[in-house]
Amino acid sequence: MRKLIDKLEKDKKLSYDEWKSLLEYGFKECREGKALPLFDNDSLLAYASEKARNIRLCVFGNKVYIRGLIEYTNFCKNDCYYCGLRLGNREVKRYRLDKETILKCCEAGYELGFKTFVLQGGEDPYFTAEKMEEIIRVIKEKYPDCALTLSVGEKDMETYKLWKNAGADRYLLRHETADKEHYEKLHPKDMSFDNRMECLKNLKELGFQTGCGLMVGSPYQDIDCIVKDMKFIEKLQPEMVGIGPFLPQHSTPFRDKNAGGLEETLFILSLVRIMLPSVLLPSTTALGTVKEGGRELGILCGANVVMPNLSPLDYRESYQLYDNKICMGDEAAESIKSLSKNMAKIGYEVVRDRGDSPKMKLQ
Ligand code: 5AD
Repeated sequence: MRKLIDKLEKDKKLSYDEWKSLLEYGFKECREGKALPLFDNDSLLAYASEKARNIRLCVFGNKVYIRGLIEYTNFCKNDCYYCGLRLGNREVKRYRLDKETILKCCEAGYELGFKTFVLQGGEDPYFTAEKMEEIIRVIKEKYPDCALTLSVGEKDMETYKLWKNAGADRYLLRHETADKEHYEKLHPKDMSFDNRMECLKNLKELGFQTGCGLMVGSPYQDIDCIVKDMKFIEKLQPEMVGIGPFLPQHSTPFRDKNAGGLEETLFILSLVRIMLPSVLLPSTTALGTVKEGGRELGILCGANVVMPNLSPLDYRESYQLYDNKICMGDEAAESIKSLSKNMAKIGYEVVRDRGDSPKMKLQ
């Protein structure tokens, strides 16, 4: 099995069957509790994570990039079965931040040294293509030295183009799963796997630094789903990949489903780093939620990005994609301080760079 990891490092790809054996074996060790700790352990996770760490050290040194996350609307027209913001969830207090409040978040973030802002929200029809365009323009005018990432779902090519021309740099749109049948078990009928794939293709084509991603351990996911995810990532060559464990949310249809595993998530993170050496790979909030210190483990498995929250504290509790989300009450300044301290403890340095994909500099 180690040979397959060596092969992945060398060729940056594996066949379907090779992925399947590697994932099956690695996941079995995870289930049997053999995968952690990362050090002094002869598990596949330990082996993969060491390679992943070395590769990330070659490409990025020990730097950890930070992104200021602004959760600007929790209205959503979609009804994804896993997500706490789904349309059918009547328990959420819905909110939208106006342009002025969004700008205040950027201002506070800029003072703290953030050079990337991430506008993340549900698919909220109130924010029309034109309204978003205006917000993008103002942010980029005020902060020309900062990168702007959008994470606002599926739109048509024209809209993506408008936003790219307005100055947006990056776009996160997790594919969620690369298996169509699985996609249909996670989403209602009015959502389309093919459209999600089309959107990702369009974003790439427009020159966005593009991020796809998945939840590890989502309901009905099997090894073949993850093999397809890895093959998909191999083919798309995204600049960013968002990976976290699935975590149940109490007012969704998946409230009683099991959470995804920490070890399995770490294994996938390591393999993605080995396959795509220059990828921007966040150690997600979901990873920090599934276990205390989870985000540090993510960094030790090749992740190189963290995304502290810049959203106003009053709204945080209304943005719960899943239960027990961490950092609900932390001011951005506090988060940054404790993050920097925790990262320093494991030998990594939180930096204030824009942290673009190294691939973009080559173009
Ligand atoms: N558990 C973990 N991740 C979730 N997301 C949404 N709901 C959950 C959940 N219950 C992730 C999805 C989405 C991203 C913004 O958050 O992958 O793309």
